[in-house]
Amino acid sequence: TVYPDMLTASKVVAGRIAAIIKKKATEGKEAVLGLATGATPIVVYKELVRLHTEEGLSFKNVVTFNLDEYYPMAATAAQSYKVFMNKHLFSHVDIEPQNINIPDGELAQEDVAAFCLEYERKISEYGGLDLQILGIGRTGHIGFNEPGSAPNSGTRLVSLDELTRHDAAHDFGGKANVPAKAITMGIGTIFKAREIILMAWNEKKAGIVKKAVEGEVSAEIPATYLQLSENVEFVLDTDAASLL
Ligand code: GLP
Repeated sequence: TVYPDMLTASKVVAGRIAAIIKKKATEGKEAVLGLATGATPIVVYKELVRLHTEEGLSFKNVVTFNLDEYYPMAATAAQSYKVFMNKHLFSHVDIEPQNINIPDGELAQEDVAAFCLEYERKISEYGGLDLQILGIGRTGHIGFNEPGSAPNSGTRLVSLDELTRHDAAHDFGGKANVPAKAITMGIGTIFKAREIILMAWNEKKAGIVKKAVEGEVSAEIPATYLQLSENVEFVLDTDAASLL
C-alpha cells in the first residue's frame, strides 16, 4: 500500500495497532505485538503515544517483543534498543514493565543460546505475535537477519553485515564503535506472526524495496522471503515505492 507521505502512512499503521489492542481488550485478552526500532517506526510510536494521552488508548493488556538488540550492548547506553523503546514509546504509556520483552545485550556469551530459546518459548506461551512491524535495512535485512539467514531461522546471535555497521556508524560516533553482533528474532520467528507490516520511507529505501517486492526470493535479500507469506503488507511512501 502506497501513501503520499510517511506521516499519513504512520498514522494508518498506528491505527491498525490501536484497533488490535482495543479488540483484544474487549475480549479480555492480551495484544501481543512484535516491535521494531530504527528511524522508520518513530512516528508510529509518536501517534500511539498521542492516542494514549489524548484518546485514552490503554496499553495495560499489551505484551511486546522487540525484534533485536546489538550485542554486546549496555541497557543504559544511548544506542541500546531498550533506551530507544523507552524514549519513543514505553515511558509515555501505561504498559506494565513485566510485559516488555527486548533481547538482552548484557548477557554473558555462554548464556545467549538459552536466552534465545526462552525468547521463542515466551512468544509461543502468549499464543504468538498478533502483529509484527518491520523496517528494512539496506542489505535487505529484517530485524538483524542479514544476507545468508535461513527462512526457518529462530532467535539467535548473528554477525552484522558491513553495510549495516556503516549505516549505524553515525549513532555510534564511527563504524569502529558499532558492535559486530546482535541478537535477533529469526525469519521463522517473524513468519509465525499472524500479521506482518513492513514499512519503508524515502528514496534511500527505493532500491531495496524493489528487490524485496519484485526480486527473486533468496537468502541474499532476506526481506524477499516475505513474498512467501500471505499475511504481509508493505506500507510505503511514494518515494520508497518509486522504483516499483
Ligand atoms: C536496524 C534495525 C532494523 C531496522 C533497520 C532500518 O538495522 N535492526 O530492525 O529495520 O535498522 O533502520 P531505519 O528504520 O533507521 O532505516
